[in-house]
Amino acid sequence: MKVTVIGAGNVGASCAEYISQKEIASKVVILDIKEGFAEGKALDLYQTATTLGFNTSIKGVTNDYSETSGSDVVVVTSGVPRKPGMTREELIGINAGIVQKVSENVLEHSPDAIIIVVSNPMDTMTYLALKATGLPKNRIIGMGGALDSSRFKTYLSLALDKPASDIQAMVIGGHGDRTMIPLHRLATYNGIPVTQFLEKKVIQKVVADTMLGGATLTKLLGTSAWYAPGASVAYLVDSILNDYKKIIPCSVFLNGEYNLEDICIGVPCIIGANGVESIIDIKLSHSEENLLNESAIRVKEMNAALSNFIRKGK
Ligand code: LAC
Repeated sequence: MKVTVIGAGNVGASCAEYISQKEIASKVVILDIKEGFAEGKALDLYQTATTLGFNTSIKGVTNDYSETSGSDVVVVTSGVPRKPGMTREELIGINAGIVQKVSENVLEHSPDAIIIVVSNPMDTMTYLALKATGLPKNRIIGMGGALDSSRFKTYLSLALDKPASDIQAMVIGGHGDRTMIPLHRLATYNGIPVTQFLEKKVIQKVVADTMLGGATLTKLLGTSAWYAPGASVAYLVDSILNDYKKIIPCSVFLNGEYNLEDICIGVPCIIGANGVESIIDIKLSHSEENLLNESAIRVKEMNAALSNFIRKGK
């Protein structure tokens, strides 16, 4: 199985690292536009194979999409981060141009690939990739919910002082500080509701910390995070290539599910060999439903900035 990672930055490199180390794919190609950068990352990473004992081959290329041909999964991490003074629409404008071009190039060489979108604003870029490629909705997956859920579980484990691997919890909605919805009502410590162990105000703090999860790291690191984003992508790729059918919250195109239409936003999905095998329609409480509707309004406001990129009727 072959996986291509577009963008050799921190997230792209981390994700290539986890995929290789865990031998989730037999071949990993890293592509970047910066001359020699992906080659360097790939060579460095490949030189860990003998020490760490993995068999995945890793190759880096500068903008040569022919090397990506026949990929089963392509991960799109390309784009620029927001700079001071830059409006969200300007960022969308720059990244939309990049994500649109990249998606088209990817598809030309890997017509059967499943595409995972990481670039921000993630829900909007996922929607754009879907519209730009015209691919069926099961083959375009935004990774935000996987990452946000891992952060939610981590904060719950810290509050409970229990191992993170014993926590089940998910975040739905948009992948933004104000749009994500950590579903604390459904979070459990090995099947037991966390509400049994944690006071309301502690849960509220966990929810707030989760929503600011990415921003907190950007502040601490001076740039956005990469270990957890990279691992979340690898987790998705693993479920696709091994057809594990894991339930993973992802940003996917909705066509009436959760009473939402014409939007990519985070909902729990079964992820397997066909990408999004199905969307799980969980019964939300009234307030959760309201939060999801508000989140969808915000995501749609962002999507409106794509009007120059999406041809009508596509
Ligand atoms: C984050 C970026 C990757 O949340 O979206 O860290």
